Amino acid sequence: MCGIVGGVTNKDITSLLLEGLNRLEYRGYDSSGLIVLSKNNTFNRARSVGKVQNLEDNLKARDHKIEGNIGIAHTRWATHGEPSISNAHPHISKNSVSLVHNGIIENYIDLKNNQLKKGYSFSSDTDTEVIAHAIDFAMKSCSTLIASVQLAIKSFTGSYGLGIISSKYPDQIVATRKGSPLVIGVGKNANYIASDQMALLSVTKEFIFLEEGDIAEIKIDKITIYDSEGNLVNRKIITSQLKEGQVDLGNYDHFMQKEIFEQPQAVRDTLESRITNDSVVISAFGYKAEKIFSEIKQVQIIACGTSYNAGIVAKYWLEDIAKITCNVEVASEYRYRRPILLNGTLFITLSQSGETADTVEALKTAKKINSDISTLCITNSAESSLTRLSDLTFLTHAGPEIGVASTKAFTTQLVALALLACSIGKLKKSINKKQEKGIVDGLKRLPGLINEALLQETQIKKLSTRFKNKNSALFLGRGTMHAIAMEGALKLKEISYIHAEAYPAGELKHGPIALIDENMPVIAIAPNDELLGKLKSNLHEVKSRGSQMIVFEDENSKVESMDAMEVIPITSNLGRITAPIIFTIPLQLLSYHVALIKKTDVDKPRNLAKSVTVE
Ligand code: F6R
Repeated sequence: MCGIVGGVTNKDITSLLLEGLNRLEYRGYDSSGLIVLSKNNTFNRARSVGKVQNLEDNLKARDHKIEGNIGIAHTRWATHGEPSISNAHPHISKNSVSLVHNGIIENYIDLKNNQLKKGYSFSSDTDTEVIAHAIDFAMKSCSTLIASVQLAIKSFTGSYGLGIISSKYPDQIVATRKGSPLVIGVGKNANYIASDQMALLSVTKEFIFLEEGDIAEIKIDKITIYDSEGNLVNRKIITSQLKEGQVDLGNYDHFMQKEIFEQPQAVRDTLESRITNDSVVISAFGYKAEKIFSEIKQVQIIACGTSYNAGIVAKYWLEDIAKITCNVEVASEYRYRRPILLNGTLFITLSQSGETADTVEALKTAKKINSDISTLCITNSAESSLTRLSDLTFLTHAGPEIGVASTKAFTTQLVALALLACSIGKLKKSINKKQEKGIVDGLKRLPGLINEALLQETQIKKLSTRFKNKNSALFLGRGTMHAIAMEGALKLKEISYIHAEAYPAGELKHGPIALIDENMPVIAIAPNDELLGKLKSNLHEVKSRGSQMIVFEDENSKVESMDAMEVIPITSNLGRITAPIIFTIPLQLLSYHVALIKKTDVDKPRNLAKSVTVE
């Protein structure tokens, strides 16, 4: 969602704000803006529609430079109000308060009607402007900016990460969060705020992660934090393990391409210290994991998008390997149902960002329904809402994922889920030592197998030209490969804007086969497993309806090539754990190359945002 960056320094802040915005652009990119308090304590604001580059051009084209030691900035992903200059942040109230906001104020219409009666006027269609006016109004009865913000936020329903400055308090930023992420960067002769530590890596590695409801007064040499009850609190300073280079493109053209090729290392890093020679390290899920896993009777997985697809693969694994019932559901549905949560449930959230609003709320809902359940989150973000809310955390060590389309986060989630299935299976004695070693050996082979799969890029690139004039595509798979087909279809949709659907191959004859003709490319995944014979029959059914087909197979699957059918062996001897992970790679490469042909913005596809921190 939206990105926030800000700072109080003894130097000009503008270049840092722009650099931060560039690093945050993956979070939202329909407009951006910054505001700086100049020497005479007046606001100087610039806003542009579109990419951050447009804001940079806007700043360069000005006669008067925007300069100052304190400022805030924002990249927007529109929720309320179209992408336009007037809706871009920062917003200002009466030249006294300016702020940037990530989240949604749900009761903004009531607040707006009230504020109109008080004489406030509105220059945007956003839900954010009411926050600025509410703080300005509170300033009339409060003697500090932080007290004004504390008073104003009492009237908001919804979520917010806020960075606020005031011309009346030119030495400070006030920051607060509820339901949206916000960190404080601790610097030398400077302190900062950001929605994501990545925005600040060039200036600091020291971060304070604000807790839900915290509010902070940030001055150049002092940070004061109060919790949601108004108590003065001390929050730990944590040294970030992220490296600056991790968020740069290096020799690649796109972050998505870089992240696809980083997968061997990402998987290696995720496995490090989580397996020994022949067994899984159960405590990798937390010191209480062994006790919790031994006692659970069923598993409920909740996630969105790509993470949900990983959850579907895990259902097969957990039932097959750990012999435990597993349900998987998208978070936006789960949180509004009245689900039954039996005692003995392990409630797992999967999320790259750890901040997806629906997933966070689904977890909170589950804890309300049955406070006795145990919770585990599998995430790529150490200091996230999900980790704070969960009993157990498993961190995928994928490194920062900047491309909006998720790639290495997905494959490392699968690695985590394989470790989980194996851990529970071991504790429940549904697998023996030899089977455990077999799974561990498979996991160890993954980096090499991914490298082999990546070697097919040239061939896949050639095939991508077939999609130049196509508007639809169908992805087929059986078993775990149905989930991988879902992931392939999602990738193609989001970055090439081709309508794509995934079907379990056996379900075709119940309807979707009617869609098949020469204009509907079909992509099938053919591992060498017990369903191969059935899949081959399905491929014949499709072929006889005239479709152009691409089949990614295990070398040992020996799918017979037919007219207008391209069979691409990816690698060989894949097992039930390795196959779904490895067959993901050609699908990622295919969607990447189709997107290049369609000339879309690969890393920032239209209408999408990296981390969906609003409903
Ligand atoms: C697709 C994609 C999204 C995310 C989804 C959940 O490529 O990236 O579908 O998977 O928004 O995000 P996380 O995993 O951060 O909860």
